[in-house]
Amino acid sequence: MKNINLKVNLAGISLKNPLILESGCFGYGEEYQDLININELGAVVTKTITLKPKVGNPPPRLAETASGLLNSIGLANVGIELFLKEKLPYLKKFSTPIIVSIAGETTEEYLQLIQRLNEEQIAGIELNISCPNVGKKLTVAQDEDKTFGLVKAAKKQTEVPLLVKLSPNVTDITRIAKSAERAGADILSLVNTFSAMSIDVETKSPKLGGILGGLSGPAIKPIALRMLWQVRKTTSLPIIGMGGITDSRDALEFIIAGANAIGLGTAIFINPQAYQGIIKGLKDYLSRKRIDDINKVVASLNEK
Ligand SMILES: Cc1cc2nc3c(=O)[nH]c(=O)nc-3n(C[C@H](O)[C@H](O)[C@H](O)COP(=O)(O)O)c2cc1C
Repeated sequence: MKNINLKVNLAGISLKNPLILESGCFGYGEEYQDLININELGAVVTKTITLKPKVGNPPPRLAETASGLLNSIGLANVGIELFLKEKLPYLKKFSTPIIVSIAGETTEEYLQLIQRLNEEQIAGIELNISCPNVGKKLTVAQDEDKTFGLVKAAKKQTEVPLLVKLSPNVTDITRIAKSAERAGADILSLVNTFSAMSIDVETKSPKLGGILGGLSGPAIKPIALRMLWQVRKTTSLPIIGMGGITDSRDALEFIIAGANAIGLGTAIFINPQAYQGIIKGLKDYLSRKRIDDINKVVASLNEK
């Protein structure tokens, strides 16, 4: 089938396809320059940036689990000033929309980051309200009122579409999603990693220096998918779905459940070019099903 449309529009951000490289999984982009052509992607979300540089958690910071990856990076990043000076210019060379992920320890810190980013040409700002791996715990995403307050304050200041990344470490993710929507979020991203741990039985020590970490990869996919489907039923906002996506079938499951675009994280560590196979797989599926537009597949779950 000719003329298959993979373009999607997320609250005014125009993506050439629905594939997004997710926060924290491709360095700052330049490290992967020989492996990933950013121009081939729908969008990229940067590593979460904080006001001051952060060294992150003690090593080891990664541990493999059955079908998953456990990380306790602890938001290690270069801080906003160095990011703007040395990292963002590389990403801006591409035609692909750049979404900058930010985190603060207070609302004021988030607002300062937003003010700094308002001076830059970026496509969107994503509030990471949900990282499970920082010493001073980011608990906003576990609380409806805190989510509402932070998103409302951030929305007032933000000059580009505002994304809010939700945590799966909650009893009912739809309540937090609704709070974010009521407060003015333009796009929801879900999910971040699941709080988890692993133990070396020989030494009886936690495998991660930070003891607890965040689980990602195929192990979380069915749970992330369930959350995506639940959130889709409660909101009409565009949603970026992620959690364990490694191939086009995974991507399609999220799109059918209601994702307008999908994020790749851990899959990049396994195969940095996984996105190419997924784009091809989406085209093949649409062609085989005689559907001319990926947007027609969004939220098309046959629930009868
Ligand atoms: C090593 C690593 C670092 C991550 N760093 C961040 C981060 O800085 N900010 C963020 O919002 N999410 C971060 N994430 C979460 C991913 O963006 C993604 O939400 C999560 O891993 C689920 O998707 P996946 O199973 O495709 O990896 C990180 C994940 C991994 C594995």
